[in-house]
Amino acid sequence: MSILVTGGLGYIGSHTIIELINQNEEVVCIDNLSNSKITMLDQIEKITGKRITFYQVDCLDKDALENVFKKHDDIDTIIHFAGSKAVGESVVKPLLYYENNLMSTINLLNLMIKYHVNNFVFSSSATVYGNPERVPLFETDKIGGTTNPYGTTKLIIEGILQDVYKVHKELNIAILRYFNPIGAHESGLIGEAPNGIPNNLMPYITQVAIGIREKLSVFGDDYPTPDGTGVRDYIHVVDLAKGHVAAISKLRTNSGLVIYNLGTGKGTSVLELVHAFEEANGVKIPYVIAPRRAGDIAECYANCDKAKKELNWVATHSIVDACRDSWRFQQYFTKMESEK
Ligand code: NAD
Ligand code: UFG
Repeated sequence: MSILVTGGLGYIGSHTIIELINQNEEVVCIDNLSNSKITMLDQIEKITGKRITFYQVDCLDKDALENVFKKHDDIDTIIHFAGSKAVGESVVKPLLYYENNLMSTINLLNLMIKYHVNNFVFSSSATVYGNPERVPLFETDKIGGTTNPYGTTKLIIEGILQDVYKVHKELNIAILRYFNPIGAHESGLIGEAPNGIPNNLMPYITQVAIGIREKLSVFGDDYPTPDGTGVRDYIHVVDLAKGHVAAISKLRTNSGLVIYNLGTGKGTSVLELVHAFEEANGVKIPYVIAPRRAGDIAECYANCDKAKKELNWVATHSIVDACRDSWRFQQYFTKMESEK
């Protein structure tokens, strides 16, 4: 039995592959390297001692994708991470996002049906809840009202999966709604290293800490939250990765279509995260209060009781763990870049 991981050399995929190897799963990974580097294979090998099977394949290339299914007839599960994820870019290049995210999923679903691969894990996002009417968010809460094409691709794909499941009851599908992944593997060898100016808070903080950026802009301090800054549910990427292992166990019991929030259940404000980082690492993060960012919401955090009950999974790492691990990786990454 092996697991096909699409987009496996990216941030969440690479951490998940490590957890799969830790569970003695056989992994076949594909990635088109559009937002990752081939050297990730070496990093995974350094951490696990294992060289995974890898193909540089684009999920939009139906023939190349089919060849992977033909070659590995023992694949029973697919974890589909591959996709484009930058919210701002999706506003400027909507067709790229609709094409990449929707077509890669459709191509995989067609091949799953053709080759009788029944288990599918999909990387969805808390973004499908739009602007929440209340927090914490439950899986049964209303979805919709996404404010950018990226978020809309996740919403549409969830709908596609529901429709396909109605007529393919042999499929087991886990829709995992991630909240805000941060942190890095504790080895410091892999983590999040975005190209250009980071969109997300944690990579921006680590780049300020290392001196690549002068100061953080805190987008708004007038939200109806305890300190006025935005509140999110920051989940350590290793906890998130373990959530995938738990979801696969569930699928293998013939679960049908299941949906889980993967978060911590706890909201943390921008300033709380900044201060946690400073305390965890003994580094000052200069910041200024800037205007609100368009499309941002005040508060977003999960209720995670369903994943606890049905997957026997809970996030165990703290914000402080995540701050320490993100910083360790940023220092390692900067050193590696400077030695190139
Ligand atoms: P990432 O960009 O680090 O990883 C995605 C990987 O997919 C990259 O390695 C990229 O090269 C590859 N890829 C993209 N298009 C591809 C294609 N057509 N064929 C093959 N490979 C392709 O992103 P990530 O943070 O690891 O996110 C993984 C998934 O989780 C994405 O679907 C993302 O939308 C979703 N997600 C991420 C977050 C987050 O904050 N990081 C939150 C919610 C959901
Ligand atoms: N923020 C700042 N300054 C920055 C960056 C972010 O103040 O430089 C603030 C934001 O305003 C927000 C919080 O930090 O209040 C978190 O922002 P992120 O950009 O890190 O995360 P978002 O919650 O906006 O969005 C992320 C992903 C989306 C995903 C969503 C839910 O970028 O793709 O989490 O999973 F859909």
